[in-house]
Amino acid sequence: MKGRESGMPVEQVWTTFFDPRCILEHMGCTGTCGDVIEFGCGYGTFTLPAASMIEGNVFALDIEPGMVAETTRKAREAGLHNVFPEVRDFMARGCGLPDDSAGYAMLFNILHIENPVGLLRETYRVLRPGGLAGILHWIHDPQTPRGPALDIRPTPAQCRAWAETAGFEFVRDEALCCCAWHFGLVMRKP
Ligand SMILES: C[S@@+](CC[C@H](N)C(=O)[O-])C[C@H]1O[C@@H](n2cnc3c(N)ncnc32)[C@H](O)[C@@H]1O
Repeated sequence: MKGRESGMPVEQVWTTFFDPRCILEHMGCTGTCGDVIEFGCGYGTFTLPAASMIEGNVFALDIEPGMVAETTRKAREAGLHNVFPEVRDFMARGCGLPDDSAGYAMLFNILHIENPVGLLRETYRVLRPGGLAGILHWIHDPQTPRGPALDIRPTPAQCRAWAETAGFEFVRDEALCCCAWHFGLVMRKP
C-alpha cells in the first residue's frame, strides 16, 4: 500500500527544495559505502546523483510505475549502468534484496508512513553490519513549502527512537547547511 501523504508536486517544484549531491555527501552516501537501497525513489532526485557518487549499485524502489519509468529513463540517458529501478511495494513485500547485503539505505521523505518501524526493520535486515541508514525529512515547521501534515510529520527525535527500536544505533544529526527545509539523521546497524 502506498504510504499516506507520499505524493509529490510536479518535478520542477520538487527539485527546488534540494541540493542532492550536497545532501548525499553530508548523509554519508558516498564513495565506497557499498550498494544503496532507496525506499521510494520518486523522480530519481537522489537516485541519479547517488549512482554517480558511489562505486556500488543503487536499487531504487517505488510503488508508482511512472516514477520508476522516469528514474529508468534518466539513468539510461545519463549512461549510468549501476541503477536498478523496480516497481515494488516495499511495505507489503519488503525490498527483495538478501539479508546483510547493502551498505547504505536512503529513507528520504518517507518515514511519515503508517508503519515507520516496520520499514526500519526491513532496512535493518537488508543492511550489512556497519551499514548506514540515512533519514531525511521535512522539519517540523508550519512554514515549510511542502511536506506531510504536521501531526504525522516525524521529528529527528522520533525518527531516532523508531530506528533504535528497530535495532539501529545513533551516528549523528545533520543540520544540512545546503537544505533549508529538511533535517538529516544518520543511523548505523551495529
Ligand atoms: C515523498 S516521495 C519521496 C521521493 C524521494 N525519496 C525524494 O525524496 O525525492 C515518496 C515516494 O515513496 C513512494 N512510496 C510510498 N509508499 C510506497 C510503498 N509502500 N512502496 C514503494 N514506494 C512507496 C511514493 O510513490 C513516492 O514516490
